[in-house]
Amino acid sequence: MTANTNDLIALEASLLARIAAASDDAALEALRVEALGKQGSVSVLMKTLGSMSPEERKAFGPKLNALKDQITEAIVVKKAAFAEAALDAQLKAEAVDVTLPPVKPRIGTIHPVSRVMEELAQIFGEMGFAVEEGPEIETDFNNFTALNFPPKHPAREMHDTFFMNATDEHGARKVLRTHTSPVQVRTMLKQKPPIRMICMGRTYRCDSDATHTPMFHQIEGLVIDEATSMADLKSVLVAAIKAFFEVDEVRLRFRPHHFPFTEPSAEVDVGCDRSGGQIRIGAGDDWLEILGSGMVHPNVLKNCGIDPEKYQGYAFGMGIDRLAMLKYGMPDLRDFFAADTRWLKHYGFSPYLLPGLAQGVG
Ligand code: PHE
Repeated sequence: MTANTNDLIALEASLLARIAAASDDAALEALRVEALGKQGSVSVLMKTLGSMSPEERKAFGPKLNALKDQITEAIVVKKAAFAEAALDAQLKAEAVDVTLPPVKPRIGTIHPVSRVMEELAQIFGEMGFAVEEGPEIETDFNNFTALNFPPKHPAREMHDTFFMNATDEHGARKVLRTHTSPVQVRTMLKQKPPIRMICMGRTYRCDSDATHTPMFHQIEGLVIDEATSMADLKSVLVAAIKAFFEVDEVRLRFRPHHFPFTEPSAEVDVGCDRSGGQIRIGAGDDWLEILGSGMVHPNVLKNCGIDPEKYQGYAFGMGIDRLAMLKYGMPDLRDFFAADTRWLKHYGFSPYLLPGLAQGVG
């Protein structure tokens, strides 16, 4: 079989038209096999070159090769166009409209206690306090003895302690820590002064009513240095309470008190307004007790390997749950730990809006 130039022109026109009209990759592949496959129309013509006279081959060969190249190229170009169209379609389908409001997160809310802890870490962090941690099951030594509670003293009972069956290496029963003060002990035992730390966490006492739960949260602060004073303590507390409650003015009243681990010791009241059945911190001429504080007792320093002749320090402790109730207005502490999703939804915070130095802590 020999083909003439007209046949080639017709074949070329028909193949190019069909390639142009191919609607998808599969149609294109079928065309490629039809033209360039082993039995393809172009391949079959190529085979006829062998039986041609040299003159015929000279005239026909280059045209046939050109046809083969052109069809091959047309298929490649069309294939690339399909790939690009597919990518375009995919990008369009996956496009995100950034002007739409964000999809509501389905991962719950941040508990007010966690939120308040974040706020306090920010506030005290800015004042140079490091955050320390300790375990909730403590030794009698760390929870009481190192903190200058005399052995068998009723002060230990005052804390309504939960005792564990497990004992420490001295045979003393371990306790669920009744306050966060053992973290101060741990910090003093492992760090040299100057020390400037806070610790926050769960504490336990056998007590339950609208303002007491057997598990509650405390924050405690400790500063140990060569020259510290009650005046430093007051200035830190004023700054922290102003920042926490987001008020410009705050009044503090120090009342003499007793803690085994501080001397002198003071309970601190904050000025508030109770008119209208609500407590507002900052304004008004009422008082609300919010924390315990004092200068660290020399015996505590000694028990923790710090020379009381060279160093002194101050410490303070507050209830975190109480701070959350005052700031965010929950009336009953027991609801905090009832795991009621309606309460959590109402009082919880968005996980995307953590307190930060830029956006404030409120
Ligand atoms: N640890 C004390 C308590 O739980 C609070 C406190 C801490 C008081 C530090 C004074 C200094 O009652």
